[in-house]
Amino acid sequence: MADEIRAGHIAAGSRMPSLRQVIAQHGVSQSTATRAYHLLEQWGLVRAEERSGYFAAPPAAAVEKPAGRRAAPAASSTVDISDLVFSVLDAAKRPGIVPLGSAFPSPQLFPLARLAKSLGQAARIVSPWNTVVDLPPGNENLRRQIALRYMRIGVPQPPDGIVVTDGALEALNLCLMAVTRPGDVVAVESPGFYAALQAIERLDLRAVEIPVDTATGLDLDALADALATHPVRACWFMTNYQNPTGVTLSDEKKKALVELLAKHEVPLIEDDVYGELHYRADYPLPALAYDRHGLVMHCGSFSKTLAPGYRIGWTSAGRFADRVRRLKLMTTLSASIPVQAGIADYLEHGGYDRHLKKIRAALQAQQRAMDDAIRRWLPAGTRWTLPDGGYFLWLEFPQPVDAMALHRLAIEQGISLAPGPIFSAAHAFQNCIRLNYGYPWSPRVDDAVRTLGQLLADPAVRLRA
Ligand SMILES: Cc1ncc(COP(=O)(O)O)c(C=O)c1O
Repeated sequence: MADEIRAGHIAAGSRMPSLRQVIAQHGVSQSTATRAYHLLEQWGLVRAEERSGYFAAPPAAAVEKPAGRRAAPAASSTVDISDLVFSVLDAAKRPGIVPLGSAFPSPQLFPLARLAKSLGQAARIVSPWNTVVDLPPGNENLRRQIALRYMRIGVPQPPDGIVVTDGALEALNLCLMAVTRPGDVVAVESPGFYAALQAIERLDLRAVEIPVDTATGLDLDALADALATHPVRACWFMTNYQNPTGVTLSDEKKKALVELLAKHEVPLIEDDVYGELHYRADYPLPALAYDRHGLVMHCGSFSKTLAPGYRIGWTSAGRFADRVRRLKLMTTLSASIPVQAGIADYLEHGGYDRHLKKIRAALQAQQRAMDDAIRRWLPAGTRWTLPDGGYFLWLEFPQPVDAMALHRLAIEQGISLAPGPIFSAAHAFQNCIRLNYGYPWSPRVDDAVRTLGQLLADPAVRLRA
């Protein structure tokens, strides 16, 4: 019946078969038939009318529309998020789990054999002198290859301003350290990438959360208010395919963001690790493109596009590049030298653009499959948007849901997901989850979404309205 209603074969408002008809047609007991109707009701697919029976509820299909805007917190706050995040990440590590909560795409989508060839080649020819020469800012050829990619999107960056790091996460952390001291206020997105909150927690900073609208992105008015009322020292934002919502800021908004921050002389740490995974024809320009004052520290990575375990990222850090370079030297000295050389070799000879084309097409097809599964299996009234890049969908459920309880039950069923509360300092977004569609579609993944739909009807997951 759920399938029929979702597919529109039973029109909204139509009377559903009576309990007696269901019992006769399906050969089930009265209590089974009643339970089935309760489930349909909980999923928002039917409504009961006293003494008249059940009717198909409008609209039958999950609607694809943005989740609403949220109010910005009036005050900055210290952050206590790590226990929550680690409990979720640790649980998701179980072998054999369906990784809907993962932050990475499937390793099957990466050109691992070709990359290994480049790494082998680099390891054979890397000279002992590179141990010194490739210290931060990093391998010269790699920085040149990265600079070429900036050039191709029309945002030229000097190779000398690029610092190679151990993944984007280190780049982001070093940038934050370069422009803040303990006690400073940092503006972050809400919902936003939990690692920003963890960095703020670790460095004894304070967070002011700026709301993100799932359709239009960061609320610039709220940011302007925050800049006017708090001594904000830095912003850490994603402008392309934001994690977790997938939203990309328009060019006008990126420009306005950069101008607003320039007016207040506040640096922007721009986390752009998903930009290369665009399904549209061109790379969505980063905010960096509008920076005239060297205030934007743009951070990128090969973890999401090419080589997750290789741990190579970078920042083009504008006027802060030298500070970041020194911090890199002071913390971990250098990113792995043969690995830097290997990635540089791959970028030069391996066919990176060909690979990117393939991975983008695969992700887009997987997005269609996930969209379809959500429509089939999750409650009517669930809201989500379809980003034109990356591999995350951010879902908001129609009824109050305890996403942490859903996460725990899902783990028991061998499924991970990213519950909403890990994406905010206030542990908000209880009603939301982030799903990863970066894995090749299979009946197992489809089944996992179906199980989530069933778990959403569990009383342990549903909160009272
Ligand atoms: C938004 C965002 N930024 C940065 C990172 C870290 O990237 P890397 O693996 O290059 O350190 C991640 C990884 O999950 C991410 O989702």
